[in-house]
Amino acid sequence: MLVRNNLRLMAVAAFALAAACSPEPEAPSPADMLLARQAGFSFDVRLKMEILDRLERDEDPVAVYLAYRDHVPSYAKEIGERLGFEFSRVSTRPRNPSNAADDWEAEQMELFGFWRETGLDPAIMEASAIVEEGDRRVFRWMRPLVMDEPCMTCHGDTVDQRILKLLAQEYPLDEATGYYETEIGGAYSVTKALTDE
Ligand code: HEC
Repeated sequence: MLVRNNLRLMAVAAFALAAACSPEPEAPSPADMLLARQAGFSFDVRLKMEILDRLERDEDPVAVYLAYRDHVPSYAKEIGERLGFEFSRVSTRPRNPSNAADDWEAEQMELFGFWRETGLDPAIMEASAIVEEGDRRVFRWMRPLVMDEPCMTCHGDTVDQRILKLLAQEYPLDEATGYYETEIGGAYSVTKALTDE
């Protein structure tokens, strides 16, 4: 028993030593952070002006769905191209499988969910890091997205039957309905390969 405890102590000490010797993780540059936040903000504004405001004006939700389906996926691409990195919306329960979170993103989503449970407001949540991917160093950033009232039209649990029919045809693997208001339903994600200078 004593031996086993000692072994455990040694393991803890070795771990602490390794942690103390490892270098501080590299901090993302303020300029990259700023651009990532700007990308999220640009998407927020465009989605509101071109889609959500139409729902507020009581336009037919099917027409708004079609506009979203046809145009929203290109917003992220355009914003990313303008700012010089990959910008996307991701989810661990995606409608479109090509928006599925990768491992790093899924980890941050879990963290956002945990913070949420402790009472933190998603509006102030953000994750960022410089990670090694193969032989590249990559800047990564994420911000959670909350399912608000207008999102319920296509992501809630009482979606218009006509939209449900279209979703079944166009997104047969859809996992993005059944959300409740205020739930975290995805995130903005930025990925930028860094070059060594
Ligand atoms: C008019 C219907 C509609 C509304 C309103 C809507 N969405 Fe979506 N949402 C969609 C469709 C369709 C997709 C799939 C787009 C694609 O193919 O990339 C989608 C995809 C997403 C994704 C990408 C991950 C995935 O599931 O593929 C996120 C995140 C998301 N929506 C969040 C929101 C949030 C947050 C709101 C409210 C601010 C919202 N949506 C409002 C229809 C809608």
